[in-house]
Amino acid sequence: MSIYLDHAATTPMVDAAIEAMTAQMKKLGNPSSLHTHGRAIRKEVEGAREIIAAAVGCLPSEVIFTGSGTEADNIALKGLFWAGQALGRNLVVISAIEHHAILDTGYWLAAHEGAELVLIGVDSHGLLNLGELTDLISRRGDEIAVISVMASNNETGVIQPIAEVVELARINSIPVHCDAVQSFGKVPLSFSELGVTALTLSAHKIGGPLGIGVLVLRRALEIPALLHGGGQEREIRSGTLNAPSILAFAAAAKESVERFGLRNFRMEEIRDDFAKRVVDVIPDAYINGIDAPRLPGIINVTFPGTESETLLLLLDAEGISCSTGSACSAGVQRPSHVLLAMGHDDRSARSTLRFSLGASSTLEEIDETLDLLPSVIERGRMANLR
Ligand SMILES: Cc1ncc(COP(=O)(O)O)c(C=O)c1O
Repeated sequence: MSIYLDHAATTPMVDAAIEAMTAQMKKLGNPSSLHTHGRAIRKEVEGAREIIAAAVGCLPSEVIFTGSGTEADNIALKGLFWAGQALGRNLVVISAIEHHAILDTGYWLAAHEGAELVLIGVDSHGLLNLGELTDLISRRGDEIAVISVMASNNETGVIQPIAEVVELARINSIPVHCDAVQSFGKVPLSFSELGVTALTLSAHKIGGPLGIGVLVLRRALEIPALLHGGGQEREIRSGTLNAPSILAFAAAAKESVERFGLRNFRMEEIRDDFAKRVVDVIPDAYINGIDAPRLPGIINVTFPGTESETLLLLLDAEGISCSTGSACSAGVQRPSHVLLAMGHDDRSARSTLRFSLGASSTLEEIDETLDLLPSVIERGRMANLR
């Protein structure tokens, strides 16, 4: 048996993306070259830029290609901080549940660049505490260089109130960055309608290739670069453009926007079925964030009395892939910072699994997983008693 329930980690490339990528790999030319070969590739890259811009509701000139979502997050948080610092603003404000690409960048800015980092908490449903942000802005709004809040959380799938964050930030003209890696292609998302300053996307979460991301950055805004070189991408991200991956990203983005409604409806159906039945088979299990607006494909379940790493390995031995929320640092497993921020203690934060669905997920896969779960949880609990 082979059941993949870890689509939020990465999901298979769609056929259209594989075709676009392989076709492009056979072509010759650096998109920055002025000769005919180079111009032909550049034309295709610019076509892809237009497709991605249309899919995310921004101008083509606002699309900056990067090597990953992680890189786009780093460029945005560091660049917007440095731009604010030059104006005497020193605070970096992020939610306590950000992906490590933002969280660790925030810690780095505090440790090495003189930033003061403030984490805004979430409630027990995993929703950003807007009261805390309002209070901070009313006291220290003119000191804030950048606010970064993710569109939806990668562990719980909980969708965050970004429009409200933008509204609060507007009073003090604070730039807002939003990590939309998990939301793009899953729920409606428009850069221009949200009104954020910068937005991060990643191709491999929507059926595109690994190792290609986008930073959408408001037109005419200049921020310091991390990489220096050929001056590509508005001099914000130097490096020869990765034409095959860019074309594949555009193909996946087009498809995910076109198929959006039907696929999401199916995924939501499967997710809700799983949520309903998991507590039938494991009565003391509970689903984190179940009462908040959530992405269609993520379900985060705590199984009291277990260790998530053990469960992950037991499920893996049965052919089922899912994920724990915890991060591994120097070989030591740390409980998920997301669940701790939601009020879990260390022990329950370590007893949680994330199951995430994709376009290929089926109800039969959920049936088979739920059939196996009672014996896996029982064995997990026994191992935990030893
Ligand atoms: C919310 C979020 N941000 C950023 C990233 C990093 O993206 P990439 O894998 O393209 O570096 C991920 C990937 O897991 C993510 O879930």
